[in-house]
Amino acid sequence: MPEQMTRITLARRPAGTPVPEDFGHETYPLPEPGDGEVLVKVEHLSLDPYMRGRMNAVRSYSAPLEIGETMTGQGIGRVVASKADDLPVGTLVTGRTGWASHAVLQAAEAQVWDESLPQTAALGVLGMPGFTAWTGLREYGRPRAGETLVIAAATGPVGAMVGQLAKAAGLRTVAVAGGAEKCRIAVDTFGFDAAIDHRAHADASSLRKALAEACPDGIDIYWENVGGKVLEAVMPLMNDHGRIPVCGTIAWYSGTDGDTDRLPMVWRTVLTRRLSVNGFIIFDHWDGYPDFLREVAPKVTAGEITWLEDVTEGLDNAVDAFIALLSGGNTGKAVVKL
Ligand SMILES: NC(=O)c1ccc[n+]([C@@H]2O[C@H](COP(=O)([O-])OP(=O)(O)OC[C@H]3O[C@@H](n4cnc5c(N)ncnc54)[C@H](OP(=O)(O)O)[C@@H]3O)[C@@H](O)[C@H]2O)c1
Repeated sequence: MPEQMTRITLARRPAGTPVPEDFGHETYPLPEPGDGEVLVKVEHLSLDPYMRGRMNAVRSYSAPLEIGETMTGQGIGRVVASKADDLPVGTLVTGRTGWASHAVLQAAEAQVWDESLPQTAALGVLGMPGFTAWTGLREYGRPRAGETLVIAAATGPVGAMVGQLAKAAGLRTVAVAGGAEKCRIAVDTFGFDAAIDHRAHADASSLRKALAEACPDGIDIYWENVGGKVLEAVMPLMNDHGRIPVCGTIAWYSGTDGDTDRLPMVWRTVLTRRLSVNGFIIFDHWDGYPDFLREVAPKVTAGEITWLEDVTEGLDNAVDAFIALLSGGNTGKAVVKL
C-alpha cells in the first residue's frame, strides 16, 4: 500500500467559469480507518455538473464546500484496509470519496457494487445520473405514447437515459446537443428522432425555428437540463398541459449566460399553457434506487440501453476535465480513471 494519498481541494471560489487556480492539489500520509470504517483506494471518480454549484458560497439544497475542503464527488474503488466486518479488504464499493486517490468511508456510506456490472456504470448509466433520468421522467414527465419530448445535454448520462426511456415509451424524442458530432450520436447511438445543434443557432429565435420544424405537434415534455437560450426557445412551443421536469440549468451555473430577462415570458407561458413545472433533486428519491437497478440493470446488460463514457486518465487531469464538462467538452458520462 502506498504511504501517501493525493486529493484535489477547492482553493478559492471561482469568479465565473472555473480556472485551474481555483483548485488545490495536496499530498499527505494515508489515513487509517477507525472502527466501523474502511479505507478505499479510488479507481474511478465521477465528474458532474452539480459540483460547480458546491464551489459557490450560496444557499442551495446542499451546503457549499469550504475553502480547502476536498472537491466533492462519488467514486468507486476497492477496500484496502477495513475495520468494518461486513466490508473485507478487496470489496468493490461506491461512495462519496471526493476527488482523491483514497478515502475513509463509514461502512454505512459505502455501497457494495455488484461485480457482474461494469464498474463505471455505478457512476453513470446505473448510478446517480441514470437514476435521476428514470425517476424524473416517471414522476414529473409522465410520458404518454405519441407525445413529443425535448431535452438538451442529450448525449450526457441524464439526457441519453431520458431519451431512450421516452423513445421506448412511444414518444417522439428530440435532442438538443452541442455540435454536429453530438447530434449524430444522439440519433445514431441513442435513437433520438431528431437532433438540433444549439451551437449552430446564434439566438433563441433561430433555435426555436429549428425546434418547431423538429416538433410539428408542439412539445409535451421539456426536460430542463440547461436553461438559457434553449429554455427561451422551447417555451413558446409548449403544448397545453405540458410538463417540465426541472433537473438542471447548467447554462447558468457559472453566471456566464448574459442577463436576458426571460422571466416574464417563462412565467406567462407556465400560466397560459397550464404547465406542470417540477423542480426535483435526486437525493429526495433514493428509496427508489433498488427498483431502478432491478428494472434497468438487466436492460443495460442486455444492450437495450446504451451508454457512453468520456474517460480522463489520472486525478491530476480531473480539473481540466471538469472545466471542459461545464462547456460541453465531454461526450458521454465524464469519468476519471485513477
Ligand atoms: N436534479 C438532480 O438531482 C440532478 C441530478 C443529476 C444531474 N442533474 C443535472 O442534469 C443536467 C445534465 O447532467 P449530466 O450529468 O447528464 O451532464 P452532461 O450532459 O454530462 O454534461 C453537461 C452538458 O451540458 C451541456 N451544456 C453546457 N452548457 C450548456 C449551454 N450553455 N447550453 C446548452 N447545453 C449546455 C453540454 O452538452 P452539449 O455539448 O450537448 O451542449 C455538456 O456536455 C445538468 O444540468 C445537471 O446539473 C440534476
